[in-house]
Amino acid sequence: MIEEQRETLRPAVVVVGGSRGIGRAIAKVAARDGTAVVLVARSLDGLAAAASDVKEAGGQAFMFSLDLRATDASAQLKEFLASNGLFCEVLVNSAGYGLRGAATTLPITDQLGMVDLNIRALTDMTLNFLPGMVARGRGGVLNLGSIAGFTPGPNMALYYASKAFVRSFSEALYQEVKSTGVTVTCVAPGPVATEFLESSGAGRAALFKILPKLSADYVAERAWRGFKSGRRLVVPGLSAKLVAFVASSLPSAVKVPLIGRLQRRSRDLCPCGSGKPFKECCGSREGRRASA
Ligand SMILES: NC(=O)c1ccc[n+]([C@@H]2O[C@H](COP(=O)([O-])OP(=O)(O)OC[C@H]3O[C@@H](n4cnc5c(N)ncnc54)[C@H](OP(=O)(O)O)[C@@H]3O)[C@@H](O)[C@H]2O)c1
Repeated sequence: MIEEQRETLRPAVVVVGGSRGIGRAIAKVAARDGTAVVLVARSLDGLAAAASDVKEAGGQAFMFSLDLRATDASAQLKEFLASNGLFCEVLVNSAGYGLRGAATTLPITDQLGMVDLNIRALTDMTLNFLPGMVARGRGGVLNLGSIAGFTPGPNMALYYASKAFVRSFSEALYQEVKSTGVTVTCVAPGPVATEFLESSGAGRAALFKILPKLSADYVAERAWRGFKSGRRLVVPGLSAKLVAFVASSLPSAVKVPLIGRLQRRSRDLCPCGSGKPFKECCGSREGRRASA
């Protein structure tokens, strides 16, 4: 079956979350090899803009508008590939979102949405396309993690946990398939100047203001180069490397409260559920005294 596919189908780089941000930048870099690039995301305008980047870079662009929260997303994507005479040689999982705020104050459905997109959809795509790569003995998966995957992150608890999953899952798969000619690489950037910083609210937290922001193009270059050379983990940029090292080395008792403070704004709703801003509730001197 695999041999038949090789005769009739052409290899493609499939970029899930390729309509903007880091995914769009990786699609552009991948297109330089003149390959077919399949861009997957919801927004048709975003896909069209990314497709024109791909063509300009020398690749052949395919657009597939898909909501990854659909339970049959990978089946739909497989069908799209087959109907265009393609198979997935390289899978880039870049779709994801974050939310800043205490877990007790953020809407539950929005938080579960992160589990659906950052964890379930990435796993679904990986498990559906990796076996074919292993059977062919080439290609691989490039998963977007984050430096958030190196530590628990109060006030962005679910996002950090989802990225810890991505790192753990990817590194384990790397080891499982490394002798087959297939690579699984996890890219773990620090803050990157994309819509994500605004939409997640992370850009307004002190932690993200302190850290330098890299460009999506820089991250894409590093990610692609690391993937092509078979790296297990790529942490682009010196500041992100430093943060990843410190986050991995410090004991939780020190780093977790610090990150919690740096990711909370005084206007945020208090996690106690009072509905008042933190600074007028448990964050005030009276509040602290009352809870002591
Ligand atoms: N930016 C940062 O600071 C940063 C740092 C570290 C790690 N990361 C990680 O890097 C990855 C990419 O982030 P980014 O900064 O490029 O974010 P972004 O600019 O917000 O792009 C997110 C991409 O995911 C797609 N997407 C979102 N929900 C989707 C859905 N339900 N179905 C299909 N596609 C969906 C979006 O397309 P549509 O909206 O058109 O569907 C878009 O293409 C994420 O996993 C993020 O966690 C980002």
